[in-house]
Amino acid sequence: MEIIIAKNYDEMSKISAGIIACEIRKRHDLVLGLATGDTPIGTYNALVDMHKKDGLDFSKVKSFNLDEYIGLAPLHPNSYNFFMRENLFKHININSENVYVPQGNTDDPEEFCLWYEEQIRKAGGIDLQVLGIGSDGHIAFNEPGSSLASRTRVKALLKQTIEDNSRFFDKIDAVPRFAITMGVGTILEAKKLLLIASGKKKADVVAEFIEGPVTSQITATALQLHSYATVVLDLDAASKLKRTEYYNWVRDNKQLVQKKVGR
Ligand code: GLP
Repeated sequence: MEIIIAKNYDEMSKISAGIIACEIRKRHDLVLGLATGDTPIGTYNALVDMHKKDGLDFSKVKSFNLDEYIGLAPLHPNSYNFFMRENLFKHININSENVYVPQGNTDDPEEFCLWYEEQIRKAGGIDLQVLGIGSDGHIAFNEPGSSLASRTRVKALLKQTIEDNSRFFDKIDAVPRFAITMGVGTILEAKKLLLIASGKKKADVVAEFIEGPVTSQITATALQLHSYATVVLDLDAASKLKRTEYYNWVRDNKQLVQKKVGR
């Protein structure tokens, strides 16, 4: 895992947008996995800027979102579908036919999950998957105890997640109890992973997932099993890490490290 510690949220967003843009420039028909939440908003804003100012081209990019609340229609203002349109899709030249977000109001979630996996397979797999982290250590909606081999499925949400995400809803009772989510196994099949985290409230769980043992109780620890995972943090989110000096040395000596380890 490569750990990059940025000065603040703004720098974290620019670095992660730079990583995504670099992959799109290398491969115009990149298959990009996308995440929601407050954390990636700055990254998406920076990508929109690169599209408007430098012509970053999304016309051939395919995107797959990680998750969606069960019961919310794509146009519902609290749906992740709506979030993606407002924060990214409507500002760039992505082809709507290439955009995949799980459908929260599907009549048959089980069938839908199989179909979603099939679409990822047909696209040739995800090249770069963007991830955030929940305060309970989840990636997508893979709550504690999720199998590290899990596939796209319906998951019941933890009370802590419902409380965390209630800030986007009028009242806590309006937060759906279930979601469709890519599984940890689905996420691990992406060729590259990019997890971003910011703020003091993520500091404990960030330290646990980077420096603690792999456990299904903190599904982000599954990144330790991946051969190409990058984590971009701001100083607050990185504040409980023990090996900061080492991560910074690797970052500051990137050319030397690349020459020796080939990455
Ligand atoms: C939700 C999403 C996750 C996201 C998490 C953190 O639970 N399902 O994909 O990583 O929120 O969100 P935030 O960035 O707002 O802290």
